[in-house]
Amino acid sequence: MNAADLLQTIRENGPPRHVAIIMDGNGRWARGRNLPRAFGHRSGMRAVREVVEGTIAAGVEVLSLFAFSQENWQRPASEVKALMTLLQEYIARESDALHAQGVRVRMLGDFSRLAPPVAAAADQLVARTAGNDRLRLNLFISYGSRAELVRAAVQLAREVRDGRLAPEEIDEEAIRARLYTADCPDPDLLIRTSGEQRISNFLLWQAAYAELYMSPVLWPDFTRQHLFEAIVAYQTRDRRFGRVSA
Ligand code: FPP
Repeated sequence: MNAADLLQTIRENGPPRHVAIIMDGNGRWARGRNLPRAFGHRSGMRAVREVVEGTIAAGVEVLSLFAFSQENWQRPASEVKALMTLLQEYIARESDALHAQGVRVRMLGDFSRLAPPVAAAADQLVARTAGNDRLRLNLFISYGSRAELVRAAVQLAREVRDGRLAPEEIDEEAIRARLYTADCPDPDLLIRTSGEQRISNFLLWQAAYAELYMSPVLWPDFTRQHLFEAIVAYQTRDRRFGRVSA
């Protein structure tokens, strides 16, 4: 099916509310072309634009992108620097278009390790787009799901210590409300590119019932056609949430 037909199918069946993507394969894409890894990441920016526009067209409410994990800090300093520069460049280059398209951007993760100019640029984009409501774009930077859960546990412990919360009040809702994604519905569809079959510490709690879609396509080659194919595949799934079929 071409992209227009896929889009029609998606609209007829009702799109997922929240799509999350582990963008993987930039390095292999570059290696296949004898280019430095940073070129792969740069080409990955085009795919980010594709999926932002594609999710808007499909009527998705929330798009979550794993852009930089806590574990990525362990990459060579030159690659970390290239990724941070790219993030700044992405913000500078895409800010107007994101705002014009009605995208509300949020950056989720441990910002204490970000260089001040990168954090400031991120804050500016978040503030500028705060009033938009067409698509919520969550960019996960310096993010790890286990660290997010530890952070929630520490918050709960402090509240108990300060007498603001009783231990018996700690339930799933109490934890959910202390995650970075507290105001988002859980992801319905989790896509990973480049053929890897892992979750890699992304949204472990939130993706408990997400449908997984592993695409063999390397991230820089991922287009809205691939996104639409993933969503149509999702729409054929029988989501039971632990129950039996209706
Ligand atoms: C994984 O590929 C990708 C990343 C670590 C970075 C993702 C960044 C982008 C898509 C570009 C910038 C986007 C924004 C929003 C600023 P990899 O390096 O792990 O690839 P490999 O597994 O082939 O080595």
